[in-house]
Amino acid sequence: MLLGSRRPEDRTDLGLPVAGLSETATHAGVLVNATPGAVSVELLHSIGAPALAGALLIDVGVGLSDDFTELSHPNSGLGEQIQEAFPLTPVVKTLCTMDSTVMIAPDALEVVPLPAGR
Ligand SMILES: NC(=O)c1ccc[n+]([C@@H]2O[C@H](COP(=O)([O-])OP(=O)(O)OC[C@H]3O[C@@H](n4cnc5c(N)ncnc54)[C@H](OP(=O)(O)O)[C@@H]3O)[C@@H](O)[C@H]2O)c1
Repeated sequence: MLLGSRRPEDRTDLGLPVAGLSETATHAGVLVNATPGAVSVELLHSIGAPALAGALLIDVGVGLSDDFTELSHPNSGLGEQIQEAFPLTPVVKTLCTMDSTVMIAPDALEVVPLPAGR
């Protein structure tokens, strides 16, 4: 796994290799967009459509303004905007309503049995 950053030289404490966004995009066939939704499309444009073409892009971003009071893509959605901007990159929208603590440790959730008959 390779993490992408705008400033990889500053990201020395993440416990995984870190590279620039373009290098990361060309590293693997499966990419994850985990950037603030208001800037995700712009960031992906900075990488460029050719570098993203053919990769599967998993988009967990949430399309809200920095203060979480406004939709960044009214009457649309972040995943939809990314897919329109990068038609050669299949986009899967998922996990955006799940807290990151659950993303990294799903087994930590308490299992509550369904009532009998359901
Ligand atoms: N945290 C959660 O529990 C959670 C749950 C579901 C969905 N999400 C969504 O997942 C995405 C990432 O969440 P997060 O909590 O990891 O967000 P974050 O810490 O605000 O941002 C993640 C990374 O994006 C880069 N970034 C931050 N601000 C930026 C800006 N203005 N322009 C460009 N890049 C910027 C930074 O990396 P570099 O500085 O290294 O480039 C930052 O470490 C968001 O869209 C969030 O809404 C989060």
